[in-house]
Amino acid sequence: MPASSFRGRCFAAGLTAAAIAVLAAPAAAQSADETDAVTYHRDIAPILERSCQNCHRPESVAPMPLLTYEDVRPWARSIKYRTGRVGKPDVMPPWYIEKDVGIQDYKGDISLSAEEIALIGAWVDDGAPRGEPVDRPAVTRVVDASGWQIGEPDLVVKSPEIEVPATAPDWWGPMGESETGLTEDRYVAAVEMREVSTWEGPAERDTIGGLYVIHHLVVLPVGPDGRPVEEAGFWPVHEVGRNPDVFHPDAGKLLKAGSKILFPSAHLHSNGRHTRAQLEMGFKFHPEGYEPSRTVEIIGPATVELDIRPMEADQEFEAFSTLMEHTKMMVY
Ligand code: HEC
Repeated sequence: MPASSFRGRCFAAGLTAAAIAVLAAPAAAQSADETDAVTYHRDIAPILERSCQNCHRPESVAPMPLLTYEDVRPWARSIKYRTGRVGKPDVMPPWYIEKDVGIQDYKGDISLSAEEIALIGAWVDDGAPRGEPVDRPAVTRVVDASGWQIGEPDLVVKSPEIEVPATAPDWWGPMGESETGLTEDRYVAAVEMREVSTWEGPAERDTIGGLYVIHHLVVLPVGPDGRPVEEAGFWPVHEVGRNPDVFHPDAGKLLKAGSKILFPSAHLHSNGRHTRAQLEMGFKFHPEGYEPSRTVEIIGPATVELDIRPMEADQEFEAFSTLMEHTKMMVY
């Protein structure tokens, strides 16, 4: 929701003058009663819909759902605290781009504005009132638990299924391979990877999240000759919480007819329940006959040796890589 769609009301004494100037303008038209209370239905629910529910819903990464007032109310104080942790590693929503330096205009920006953080704080301090459901603005974003963020894929490739006991040490190793079944060469426009898991029995122990067991999985498409498609370079890696990769319209990565996908390196982490899991890779293709005019490169910083000294805070390690030509960074 753009900041401009907030209805103004005098909710917080602690706001800066600038923020009050932005928010207070439309309030003149409203009565004192209407302007006083920040309510769940009118003010808070739309923020949670946009910025929290993708994770805070059943079957997603966060530990508790924030879909209804009943879900949200017990967490009110914690929500005020965590949304106020701007610039700290535990800020909610997780969003670490500084607000006062560099590019600010990002697609899918779920971060909260200073006004929204103040609004949540004021609501919690006021006892987190529910308000009237009729005041609720139209739903801005519908979360579909099973939906692909890239839209219905043209091809879904599933990894072999793996089993992880409820309590087990972490495990690293290869996870097999899967045929793509492709009968023609196609350029990939977007790829999304997600873990699909089922459980047996109750949880044996408490974990944070406790939904996924594949911490990360390296994917490597190879042609019918068993060799990586040279010009395609590295592929994105599956990691918990990673967003899909949507390539630039002028660029795509080649998936060969008769190719298969190797899963050479997995890190598995037991989640407290006996879990069977597999990775689904959803591919969206460019149209048939498409030829890219640019290349996609996955660039990582050079590796660095970590030599962490004991009992010493604030140790930093830096790694650099040089961009050798004019480059547009699409995903970070
Ligand atoms: C990208 C996924 C994601 C988004 C988006 C997100 N959260 Fe979270 N949230 C998590 C995860 C994972 C945890 C558990 C780990 C932790 O506590 O940091 C968590 C923990 C929390 C906690 C602490 C729960 C506790 O046990 O104390 C609160 C409160 C919270 N989130 C509120 C929010 C609110 C409010 C929003 C939106 C404004 C939000 N989160 C958006 C993933 C997310």
